[in-house]
Amino acid sequence: MTHPPDDALLTAIAGRFGTPAYVYDLDRMARRLVAVQGALPGAAVLYAVKANPNGAVLRRLASLGAGAEVITVGELERAARAGVPPERILVGGPAQDAALIGRAADLGAGLVSLDSPGQWRGWAASGAAARFLVRVNPGLDPGTHEHLATGAPGSKFGLPAEAALALGREVAAAGKLAGFHVHAGSMIRDLTVYDAVLDVLEPLYAALPGLPLLDLGGGFAVPDFPLAAFAARARAIAERLGTALLVEPGRFLVADAGVLLTRVLHVKDSGPRSHVIADAGMAELIRPALYDAHHPLRVVGGDAAGSAPAGRQAGDGAGPALVDVDGPLCENADRLARDRHLAGVRPGTLLAVAEAGAYGFAMASNYASSLRPAEVVIEAGRPRLARRRERVDDLWRLEEDGPDGS
Ligand code: LLP
Repeated sequence: MTHPPDDALLTAIAGRFGTPAYVYDLDRMARRLVAVQGALPGAAVLYAVKANPNGAVLRRLASLGAGAEVITVGELERAARAGVPPERILVGGPAQDAALIGRAADLGAGLVSLDSPGQWRGWAASGAAARFLVRVNPGLDPGTHEHLATGAPGSKFGLPAEAALALGREVAAAGKLAGFHVHAGSMIRDLTVYDAVLDVLEPLYAALPGLPLLDLGGGFAVPDFPLAAFAARARAIAERLGTALLVEPGRFLVADAGVLLTRVLHVKDSGPRSHVIADAGMAELIRPALYDAHHPLRVVGGDAAGSAPAGRQAGDGAGPALVDVDGPLCENADRLARDRHLAGVRPGTLLAVAEAGAYGFAMASNYASSLRPAEVVIEAGRPRLARRRERVDDLWRLEEDGPDGS
């Protein structure tokens, strides 16, 4: 499968901005948003900012009418500054401390998803003018990696139906309840999950008739989420419950419009496994290490990639080699891909790790004093730097005493 952008552009970007670098095709993100909006006419599409909080990404999505789902003061500030109108900002998450509540109330954030009765007390005391949803834990298996199964029984998210109803009644008594919220999990492919979600929601809406909203969360899988079939189901559920609809996709809007560009440093094929050591690993993209995530990966520019010094080449003479693509750090989890067939890989080869536009840079770290990569955006075919690569002195910028004690 080929993932955009094309190889010539990626090669030029690597030459100009260096590697590792994240590259986002903003036009592709925009098309994804428009596709979701088109599939769900009348629904509010709230972008889950955690997937990719880059300002250029947020501004583009906001300019097309996306709202924002935020869970921290940082995400709230980013969304507001990117031009998301406050009434389209939903504050969610299991924490919601006084700082977040206070700032959201000041900005006039329009929607809140309550995860616990304790949160409600905080909001009630704040005098915020928002409308409230109560998050329900549907207690189901969304068929995803356990770290992403937020709707599983026993996960920390939301309240079981009975407790959700009790909190819903309390919020309704204060005249502030707009509906219920379910985010069943992330990377959902199996739409029968939503049958179970409806089973949980129906008694709640029946018990509190006339609620205007239903938030079905995000979680649409990449690469193969059946958007049209989902939309048909979601519309049917909303119709059955008599509500308008909110959805909160993160990954689906941005993942496959992003690649992580990384350059091969070494090829080691003397042991039982061949290892390609790249200049990016778990510090830049932690998803393979954390979730066993599979990211498609390809050689950019085929055999001619980069101005590589001649060196050892994986698969010399024997077609594509079966390799692990590893990062530069000192633990086995520092890996981008396992058991991949790659041809013509040698030091200097440029690799594109696809489906990296979501939860890639967003989860990048300074582990081992790695420098977080540049972020480059492409609009109308033209690349520009959206966030510069970190420099070594960025590493201790916030330390009271730098490494030299001054
Ligand atoms: N709404 C709520 C309440 C959420 O908790 C999330 C994601 C979303 C929406 C957006 O989900 P999405 O459409 O992006 O699947 N770091 C993980 C993903 C964690 C998602 C957490 N919640 C990963 O790299 O796969």
